[in-house]
Order: sequence, then structure tokens, then C-alpha cells
Amino acid sequence: MDKKVLNKMLRPKSVAVVGASATPGKIGYSVISNLLKDGYKGKIYPINPKESEILGVKCYAELKDVPGEIDSAVMCVPAKAMVEMTEECGKKGVKGLIVITSGFSEIGRKDLEDEIVNIAKRYGMRILGPNIVGSLSNSDKFNGSFCPSLPLPGKASLVSQSGALLIALAMATWTRKVGFDKLISIGNMADVDFADLIEWFNDDEDTSCVSLYIEGLKNGRRFIDAAKNSKKPIIALKSGVSAHGAAAAASHTGSLAGAAKVYGSAFKQACVIQASDLDNLFDRTLGLSSQPPMKGDNLLVLTNGGGVGVLATDAAERYGIPLKFAPEDVQAEMKKHMPEFGSAKNPVDMTGMAGNEWYYETVKYAISNKWTDGLVILYCETSITNPHEIAESIKRAIDDSGVKNKPVTVSFVGGDRSNEAIAWLNEHGIPAFFAPDVAVNVIAALREYAILQEQKNNIHVKPNEKAMKKSMEIIEAARKDGRTALTEIEAKAIFEAYGMPTTKIALAKTEEEAIAAAKKIGYPIVMKIVSPDILHKSDAGGVKVNIKDEAAAREAFNTIMKNAKAYKADANIHGIAVQEMAPWGTEVILGSINDPTFGPTLMFGLGGIFVEVLKDVTFRVSPVSSVEAMDMINEIKGAKILAGARGEAPRDRKALANAIVNYSSMILDLKDEIAESDANPFLVYAEGEGLKVADARIILKKK
Ligand code: ACO
Repeated sequence: MDKKVLNKMLRPKSVAVVGASATPGKIGYSVISNLLKDGYKGKIYPINPKESEILGVKCYAELKDVPGEIDSAVMCVPAKAMVEMTEECGKKGVKGLIVITSGFSEIGRKDLEDEIVNIAKRYGMRILGPNIVGSLSNSDKFNGSFCPSLPLPGKASLVSQSGALLIALAMATWTRKVGFDKLISIGNMADVDFADLIEWFNDDEDTSCVSLYIEGLKNGRRFIDAAKNSKKPIIALKSGVSAHGAAAAASHTGSLAGAAKVYGSAFKQACVIQASDLDNLFDRTLGLSSQPPMKGDNLLVLTNGGGVGVLATDAAERYGIPLKFAPEDVQAEMKKHMPEFGSAKNPVDMTGMAGNEWYYETVKYAISNKWTDGLVILYCETSITNPHEIAESIKRAIDDSGVKNKPVTVSFVGGDRSNEAIAWLNEHGIPAFFAPDVAVNVIAALREYAILQEQKNNIHVKPNEKAMKKSMEIIEAARKDGRTALTEIEAKAIFEAYGMPTTKIALAKTEEEAIAAAKKIGYPIVMKIVSPDILHKSDAGGVKVNIKDEAAAREAFNTIMKNAKAYKADANIHGIAVQEMAPWGTEVILGSINDPTFGPTLMFGLGGIFVEVLKDVTFRVSPVSSVEAMDMINEIKGAKILAGARGEAPRDRKALANAIVNYSSMILDLKDEIAESDANPFLVYAEGEGLKVADARIILKKK
């Protein structure tokens, strides 16, 4: 039902322009003129109380005067008239409102925005915007916007949160030769959001790939679900990654979680391919809208020039699909189409002598060969070849091979004739670019898309009722105490409940209690101050390690107490934690934040100096599957340390992945309670020997 409403809004058979104007230069004039100029075939109903016709189209004073049904209404009246006009649209039975009008939440008038959304809801209408350029559909010749023209026709569609950028990109489609079917300006997203449109595009047969320009999502989890279930590739350019409120955080994780990292991880989980900039958005859109995913890692590069071959080789490594030598049979066949001094390895260098025929034969063989998963074809303009003919040979070879399930990208380096050939290839559905590294970057996106689809996590995690009950008892007791910072002992008890082993620990209020606890745990021990007012214990001189006997324990107890009082005279001191001195292990950190967009989000990285200085960490939105957990372990720069560097035994990565999964369940179950948390250091031992949380921190949400 809802999709039908969106269909009527975005592909209307009849459209009213509310606030249509006969004055050139006004937006209400421009929309009518665009609908006419771009050849919209549906019914157009300009609404204006003063005019009888605009640009030759009969005008109506009020919506109720319109004789027929209205699918969509493009709203061009000032904000102050919007409440009344939305009501009128509802009464008339309009299905969707494309609200160009500005002056809502973007200037602090969320109340006005809510009012029109509520009216729309009452009538079952949907609202696009407000504060948008409009909506365009090439296949309907519908330019319901103040964009100068429809974009170059193509198979991709674009949704943009910035109206100005949408206009600019619409025009750039013509010069960049990247075609789009629909361009949808989404503005304030008062009602229709990215997720709604991603779902709607699933059934739009004119769209093969969805490009997004995102400034900020409102409901990150709904976005992830919609994108993960999208039948079409999604590519996103996210801006505004630098100004995220990550600074004032009580935990390590909080200070390390920037929007770029969290969004980047969420996009991965949502199977969304990222674009690094506007150029890259166009390039990758071209590839994803016209080529199939690359199902394996075997990329073959064909070239007539060594230099561009090396550039492509470098790029392949940079973008995560390093070249491998082609197998003997492939090399033998390639050698038939090159001189003695060519190279049949990979890149396959046919040399500057390569002409139409060699390109035809090698492309046809390479794409048909079962070893090849994807093909990058490079060409440098020479005086013995004609770029257009080379382009035609490439196209003919692909067509004659009959292979449709392997991607191909092309780079032609040269002058005007090469540029013309690039345009020709693009018009014929083969993504072609100037630079070889761009051709590789685009095929890497097709590889990434295939990998993300394979790894897609569809887990539905059940809450761990027993662990939740135990945790809530601890949390409620702390809240009763007026605290939002749990003590290490409390935090460790919660971690234990969720199946994460922690070092043995006991609270001692007196020196004698400390000695008794130490005896029970066994020397050597660690002693730490327990005070909700002292979060950074080491800074306060509140930690003593490697305490080997009773005398040292007595001395440590008294020193820590003295230091704590000196650090903060009025600190509420619960006592001293007497703790097992865990044997050395590789230090990692697991932590969480409650991200404003995505909710409970997990961080993993190597601990100690790696997290302090190098910030070598990675994120995932919870819940995390065991495959994703392993992916997190393998994707940090320090992965090799865990795999066993310089003769050391590999660390227990299986136990670590398990801990990541458990941690992710913990923060999801307790999402209404935990604001931030970390297990740091989390000590990981050799394979089969498990791991242990040595220090734990949980900060509760303020209620
Ligand atoms: N019913 C019917 N017609 C009405 C009504 C009504 N209730 N109220 C006003 N009108 C008519 C007006 O009489 C006028 O027609 P006229 O030219 O014959 O007099 C027409 O509607 C428009 O009203 P104006 O008061 O002239 O308003 P104007 O055209 O100057 O501005 C607009 C209206 C465009 C909606 C403006 O308020 C606005 O929001 N502009 C910003 C749009 C924008 O930038 N959107 C974001 C895009 S993203 C980006 O940054 C590019």
C-alpha cells in the first residue's frame, strides 16, 4: 500500500503544482515550465488563485476545483501557507506531496514540519522533503522540480540530501556521460527517508543501482535493514564525517568513535559501497549500474602499454584485489596475440603493437576463461591504432563471448579520439574511464559488492535473559546509589554474566580483608582503588601490580588509600579491589558506544600503545555475527600480531571472536542502560588458552 503511495508520488499520472506562478524566475513558474519542456505526459494542474492559465495550461484557484484525481502535488507556496494547503491536498485525495518549500526544521521550525506530517498521516499521504529541489524521473519524463532539465538517461538513480548538489549533479550527468533515471531530493526527511526509497527502488524496473548522497541518517538501524535487503547495489557518499561529537567521552571507545568510522562500518554491514568523493560517486555508479558483481578474486588486466599496466597493478593492490599470475593455459593462449617481447603473465602486455584483432581475441578468450573473475582492459592511444575501432573490438569480443556474469571496466589514455571512444563505450554499457586506477577502483567496488553480499549478516539475536537479569540487579543497585559509573567489580560481574572471562577479583574494605582476599586468590596480585569518583585509577596512583607477598600487600593497601585521598579528598571510596595478576597476554580492547544514529556499536582493536597512539580500531553496529567478529579481528592493521608475529604463537582468535559476539549481545540487551563501556586491557593468550578481561568499565546512561 505504502509503496503504491510512493509510486503515485514519484511516478505520477497527474500532478498539481500548488503555488504555480505566471512570473518567470519564480519556482512555481519553473516547475510548470519544466514539466512542459521535458515532455511530461500526465495531467498538469497549476493551482493559483489569481491566474486562469499558466504557460497555456488551465489554472485552478483551489485544489478542490480540479476535475480529476491528483497523484502528486509539488508544493511551491511559502511555509506559512503549507498547513492549510496540506489539509486541502488531503481533502482532495492527493497521494504524495513533493514539498519544495523551505522554512521548517532547518531553521528551527520542527513544530511546523510535524504539523504538516501529522496532517499528511491523517489522510494517508506521504511527504517528500520539505526543503527540496523536487523529484525527477526520466522514464516518466517527469521533472517535478526546479532543476534546469532531466538528467542524461541511464539505469542508476540518485537520492540526495542536498538539493543544490542534486541540481549540480543533474547537469553533470550530461558532461560526465553517466546516466540516471530518477533524481530524488530528500531534504529534511520529515517523512520519506532513505530507507523508504531504498525499499521502493526494489520494485522500480528502471533502476539498476541506487546512489546516495548522505549528510546524516535519522534512523541508522532502519537504513541498515533496508539497504541489506536491497535487491540493487547501493553506493553512498557520506559527507560531514569530521564534526561528530566524539570528544567528551568517559571511555576510550567514546573518544575513538568518529562518524567516519562508525558510518563506514555500518555501511559495510548494510552492504553499501562507499564513494570517497563526487568523482568516485559517478565512477562507481557507472560500474555498479552496468556491470555484474565480481564473484572471485581473479582479476586479469589486459594492456598495450607497460606503464598503465603497472599503474593498474599498483591500484589493484591498493583497492584490495592484488593481481595474481594467470595460469599456464591462459598465458599460452595470450602469447598467440602478442610479439615475442610481450608478457602473458598478469598484466597481460600485448605491447604497443596490439591492434583491433589482438584486443578482440584476448578479450574474448580472457572473459570466457573459467579462471578469470573480472577484466580490466587498458589502452594507450598510438598512431597505429584507432581508439574507436579498439573500443568496438572490445565490445564485439564481450558480446561474442556471450558472458554476462563477469564485470569489465576499461581505461583509454589519450586525447580527443580516446575520449570519444570512452563516451562510446559508456553509451554501450561498458564503463570506461581515462585513468587506469579508476578502472581498477570501479572493478574493486564490484568485487566488494560481491563480498559484502556473501558475508551479509542476517542474524537475529535472542536476548540472554539470565545475563540480563543479573546485570539489571547490578545496574539498579548502582542507580539507587546515584551512580552512573559502575565499579570495576560490578562491570566485571556483568562481563562474566555475558560469558567473558575476567580476572578473579574481590573487594576489601580493610587491610585485613585485603590480606584474606589475597590468600584466597593467590599471589602475585594486583590492587586497585574502587571509587566511582576515580575513573582513571592509574593517574590517581590507585593501582599497584605484581604484589608478591603479604608484606607488600599491606604496604600497597595503605599507599593506595593515601594516594586516593590525596587525589580527591572527598572521593567516595568503596575499598580496594584485590585482583588476580593475570599472566601476560596480547592486550586488546573491546568497547562500546551508544551511537546517536546507529545505537549500540562495538569497537575492537589492539590495546595499550596501539589504541593510545595509532588508534588502530574498528567498529560494528551490534549485533555482530561470528563471521563479522573474525572480520573485525582480521581488518585492523595489527591483525598480524594476533596471527602470531615474529615467532610468537598465534593468539586465541576463536575465543576472541566469541568474546566479540558476546560483547555485542551485552550492549544490545542493555542498550537502554549502557552509554559506554570497555574491557581494556582484554588479555588474549595463545591458541586454545582463551582470554581474560583485566580491567572493565561501564558507564550508564543518565536517566
Ligand atoms: N494557494 C495557491 N497559490 C498560492 C497560495 C495558496 N495558498 N499562496 C501563495 N500562492 C501563490 C502566490 O500568489 C504566488 O503566485 P504569484 O506569482 O502568481 O503571485 C506563488 O504561489 C508563490 O508564492 P510567493 O509568495 O510568490 O512565494 P515565492 O515564489 O517567492 O516562494 C517558495 C515560494 C519557493 C516555496 C519559497 O517560500 C521557498 O521556500 N523557497 C526556497 C525553496 C528551496 O530553496 N528549497 C530547497 C531546495 S535545496 C537548495 O538549496 C537548492
